[in-house]
Amino acid sequence: RAAEKDGHAWFMLKEIAEQPQAVADTLRGRIGETGEIMLDEVRLTDQDLRDVDKVFIVSCGTSYHAGLVAKYAIEHWTRIPCEVELASEFRYRDPVLDRSTLVVVISQSGETMDTLMALRHAKEQKARVLAICNTNGSTIPRESDAVLYTHGGPEIAVASTKAFLTQLAACFLVGLHLAQVRGVKYADEVAAVVAQLQEMPAKIEKVLAGMDAVRELGRELADNKASTVLFIGRHVGYPVALEGALKLKELAYMHAEGFAAGELKHGPIALIGGPSDDEAGNPVGHGTPVICIVPSPAGRGLLHDKIVSNIQEVRARGAHTIVIAEEGDDAVIPYADVLVRVPRTPTLLAPFVTTVPLQVLAAAIADARGHDVDQPRNLAKSVTVE
Ligand code: G6P
Repeated sequence: RAAEKDGHAWFMLKEIAEQPQAVADTLRGRIGETGEIMLDEVRLTDQDLRDVDKVFIVSCGTSYHAGLVAKYAIEHWTRIPCEVELASEFRYRDPVLDRSTLVVVISQSGETMDTLMALRHAKEQKARVLAICNTNGSTIPRESDAVLYTHGGPEIAVASTKAFLTQLAACFLVGLHLAQVRGVKYADEVAAVVAQLQEMPAKIEKVLAGMDAVRELGRELADNKASTVLFIGRHVGYPVALEGALKLKELAYMHAEGFAAGELKHGPIALIGGPSDDEAGNPVGHGTPVICIVPSPAGRGLLHDKIVSNIQEVRARGAHTIVIAEEGDDAVIPYADVLVRVPRTPTLLAPFVTTVPLQVLAAAIADARGHDVDQPRNLAKSVTVE
């Protein structure tokens, strides 16, 4: 099996390393020379797409987090209302669906029962269903009206990594395509994003090349006795925070939660404390680890300043701050106990680069704790029961 893992200790590490390729493969052939998104394979006509007046994204687990990121992009570019919902909740609450609703179901395996049942419910209500899926010929794409395959290649490790990044790529393609077909007020921005999207594989590669410090941090955190690890982000950094926390729960069996940084003051900040004292009253170890996903200071500057003040707040209460911020962002330096750099990336696309250190961190902690990184306890790769 070592050969199958390409020299990596775990499939998950191999799959993390494959992300630049997986994203490039998912984009390949879908962007024309003049930047037009070409999704003819999807079998939804331009008229179908012009008729859409509401988008629902429905999925589970990591695929749900990809949907949460997509919402920010789709609503911003297309001005169509977009809701994201857990598949296990969707059909039980009688969502408002009709012929002009586009339901996007996201599933790596194409076999998740909750997602399949949500898709069937959407079809019964006459909505159009587009599947974003990694597994050719699986049940979910077979039952959908249309499908956009992510070309991530087989994902073996239970914890999803490269599937997530390829789902982001596919969601952005769908959002950009919708925007182009319908004509949008942000035409220049859409054109710029098409170009920036194609730079993502190289940027992910760059992140991967700088992960030694994150692995080291993982080994340190493996001994941490903290009762929880918090992840905070804003905008698309919020779903990234949720994904980082999910990875830590799945792999390291540590309690972790992701929060919208603005919500800290409404409750979660009470969880944060400084290092505990030894018998002589001297502090030992670190305070509550808080992993902070910082957006680019360019563009949405306000967002950046707000999170910097959130980092300041948690640190003032004793937190051990682990800050993921882009190169050249000096404003975070005074408040970062650990600083992880990612390449400069526009806010909407930042999840391609900010998620990677969180995957590497969770795998490193799990490995240091002696867990099976590829097959965490109690979890299955594909959950075919409701
Ligand atoms: C399981 C896996 C997760 C995955 C989720 C959804 O819980 O352990 O990694 O995100 O199912 O799977 P899907 O195949 O529908 O994307």
